[in-house]
Amino acid sequence: MIAYNVNKIREDFPILNVKVHGKPLIYLDNAATSQKPKQVIQAEKDYYETINANIHRGVHKLSEDATAGYEEAHEKAADFIGADNLDEDSNIEQIIFTRNTTESLNLLAYSLSNSKIDTGGGNNKADTIFELKEGDDILITQAEHHANLVPWQQLAKKLKLKLKFAKISLDSNDDEDFGTLDVQQFNELVTKKTKIVAVAQMGNVLGTINDAREIGKIVHENNPSALFIVDGAQSVAHSKVDVAKLGCDFFAFSGHKMLAPTGIGVLFGKKNLLEQMKPFMYGGDMIRKVTFEDTLYNDLPWKFEAGTPNIAGGIALGSAIDYLQKIGMENIFAHEQELTRYALKRLEEFEDITIYGPRKMSEKRTGIISFNIDGIHAHDVASIFDQHGIAIRGGHHCAMPLMSLLNVAGTARISFYLYNKKEEVDKVVDAIKSVKKIFA
Ligand SMILES: Cc1ncc(COP(=O)(O)O)c(C=O)c1O
Repeated sequence: MIAYNVNKIREDFPILNVKVHGKPLIYLDNAATSQKPKQVIQAEKDYYETINANIHRGVHKLSEDATAGYEEAHEKAADFIGADNLDEDSNIEQIIFTRNTTESLNLLAYSLSNSKIDTGGGNNKADTIFELKEGDDILITQAEHHANLVPWQQLAKKLKLKLKFAKISLDSNDDEDFGTLDVQQFNELVTKKTKIVAVAQMGNVLGTINDAREIGKIVHENNPSALFIVDGAQSVAHSKVDVAKLGCDFFAFSGHKMLAPTGIGVLFGKKNLLEQMKPFMYGGDMIRKVTFEDTLYNDLPWKFEAGTPNIAGGIALGSAIDYLQKIGMENIFAHEQELTRYALKRLEEFEDITIYGPRKMSEKRTGIISFNIDGIHAHDVASIFDQHGIAIRGGHHCAMPLMSLLNVAGTARISFYLYNKKEEVDKVVDAIKSVKKIFA
């Protein structure tokens, strides 16, 4: 890995010069959303100042340029997650732009609820047909974000399916595995009844990394007609993702967590699956031909992109991808692992702090650290941090069932990104001391 110059990177992020309560901003709420470099802000501005027009419709120059920019952004997204390794001829057809991870997952829940698909996965044709029927299972884990839980829960209720939860280890004495997925139990849960498996590659609360490749293998070996969906909201921003290697059928993520603006997200899907799926929304742009009686749908990915999309956001997402690729995702991952290792070490100084997730660095852990200080509410911790200019999150992190499993109302959470540095970890330690002093 090549270490990069963090201070140089920081110069690209105007917001890092902002003062909060008179103190320099220390932004450690990256799991919620990331800050944006000036290159991305400029890309969005350039779009509005030079080529703003609606896409796929006009025959004028601006519309052609806007269309080309928006389609190029799809290509960049395909390259970024390795979709073009899977099918070189159809990379953009496998990349649907949505608003965010939540919309990508809702698109799937809706479309899969009324689609019949030949997954092409097995030898025996009858075994490869995906179609949801009463009594089938959907499998997720106990540690999912609401975005990867509520759509499946509601779908299960509607179609009388069973929503199952794979267990995570709750042994808080286990420094390495606390919060990680019990893969053996997971394996037992994937049966012929399991039709959808949806798992986050990186957890937004526990900071754990799931081996999505191994999980994908289990899913497809145990049931060739099951579809494997990866919630990549956290992972794609912090590590190199290759959907071809993961073996997933779908991969969902949000632009705003990876330096792009809010309101732009992505759903990757294998072409042969997307082709057989019903649209999510109906209207303009998703059609090829409409008569009073019927509608012929458009080609991929436009079949799933009804209405005028977030063109500027899409183009800015392309710029964010350029920015991340220039630094290198492996380098960003290594930088954050280093920060996390240092932070975990420094937090050992406090005997009254509980960390939810692995306390030791390993390949199963990333730069999200959830913790509580004995007897002090997470919101109070976050408020006092704020007085120090440190932005962290305190609460349930959109994972209420997980909170109840951990037996807490919420946690304080720090989360790193490429522009954070060790000195900021030291400031976190100072802020914790200040919290303890106030509550002493
Ligand atoms: C793991 C995970 N999945 C899904 C989401 C939802 O992302 P969004 O709000 O951008 O749709 C988040 C956001 O925090 C997340 O961390």
